[in-house]
Amino acid sequence: MFIGIFILLLILKPIVCVIIYDITDDNAHGVRIAGNDQFVVYGMNLAMGFDINFAPFVPLTDCVYVNQSRDFYVYSLDVVFNNDNNTSDQLFTFVQISEQMSTQNIYFSIITVNRSLCINGNMSTATIRDTLILNGTHQEYMLLKVVPSQKYTCVFTDRFALMFDIVNNEIIELKDSYTFYSYPYPIIPHAIDVTDTYVIGVGYAISYINPNIAVIIAFICELQPFRSINYTTIIDMNSFAQTAALATTYNIANQMSIASYY
Ligand SMILES: *[C@@H]1O[C@H](CO)[C@@H](O)[C@H](O)[C@H]1NC(C)=O
Ligand SMILES: *[C@@H]1O[C@H](CO)[C@@H](O)[C@H](O)[C@H]1NC(C)=O
Ligand SMILES: *[C@@H]1O[C@H](CO)[C@@H](O)[C@H](O)[C@H]1NC(C)=O
Ligand SMILES: *[C@@H]1O[C@H](CO)[C@@H](O)[C@H](O)[C@H]1NC(C)=O
Ligand SMILES: *[C@@H]1O[C@H](CO)[C@@H](O)[C@H](O)[C@H]1NC(C)=O
Ligand SMILES: *[C@@H]1O[C@H](CO)[C@@H](O)[C@H](O)[C@H]1NC(C)=O
Ligand SMILES: *[C@@H]1O[C@H](CO)[C@@H](O)[C@H](O)[C@H]1NC(C)=O
Repeated sequence: MFIGIFILLLILKPIVCVIIYDITDDNAHGVRIAGNDQFVVYGMNLAMGFDINFAPFVPLTDCVYVNQSRDFYVYSLDVVFNNDNNTSDQLFTFVQISEQMSTQNIYFSIITVNRSLCINGNMSTATIRDTLILNGTHQEYMLLKVVPSQKYTCVFTDRFALMFDIVNNEIIELKDSYTFYSYPYPIIPHAIDVTDTYVIGVGYAISYINPNIAVIIAFICELQPFRSINYTTIIDMNSFAQTAALATTYNIANQMSIASYY
């Protein structure tokens, strides 16, 4: 009996732990490059850090930050515009959503670098403010965008929708996807865009006709209050459907994009 349980654990363990963090695929799971007219940042999961390029973007202005003790797999990041005249040439802030590879904990982070501390292309230190969002829950997609006012960040993932106050470094709303959308089956967002009032997104939704099939869904959400307003699906089983297995895991053939005007 005792030996039986032990063997079972040995067999189960590797199966439970198979999560592939494809660090060589810069396209995987989200958007890891973002910029404005002040700077551009690129999240490098292969090197466990980021590369930042400062305006005016002439050659040799980039700076690399590496922190091997930080086993964070960055899914998506976005830049925050520095409105402060006094520090806009020194301080550069961006936000990211990531999963810690050793724990599958999900962290929202606000990262600020001081350009003056970049020596020979090496940024030896950064101010990092991490907020734990979810414990030990692997995500396939995590998408993030800063709203135009630069006050909030919206995050949409397999399991939750988050609105984060980046001025005060606090969660405004954290909602479980299963109750957030008016659509009663799982939605896996593949792309989002934001304005100061709305979020629009596209992704796959498990079909209510056949749970083995996923259909393309487009949804719109309001920011204040933070709620899903409505959705539309393309329920054409012949051309726009996908198997649930392929729709709920990352794969490059199913990338989508969406843009809003404001
Ligand atoms: C920043 O610069 C702009 C343009 O020069 C000026 O209008 C504004 O008052 C300045 N803001 C601060 C906080 O100094
Ligand atoms: C920027 O510098 C100006 C002039 O020195 C000062 O009046 C202002 O308070 C500073 N602004 C901030 C946000 O530190
Ligand atoms: C950036 O770092 C330099 C060099 O240490 C320092 O003099 C400056 O005050 C820092 N800037 C800000 C806004 O913290
Ligand atoms: C960058 O700076 C850090 C901290 O000073 C140092 O440990 C690291 O070796 C440097 N990296 C390079 C490539 O110079
Ligand atoms: C590296 O990351 C760890 C964990 O997030 C953090 O405590 C540490 O300050 C970071 N080191 C540097 C040099 O930024
Ligand atoms: C994560 O787990 C720790 C320890 O069980 C708990 O204290 C914390 O509240 C949890 N946090 C979240 C965001 O679930
Ligand atoms: C969602 O859209 C459908 C179709 O246009 C409409 O009938 C329904 O009333 C909308 N639901 C909400 C909550 O606005």
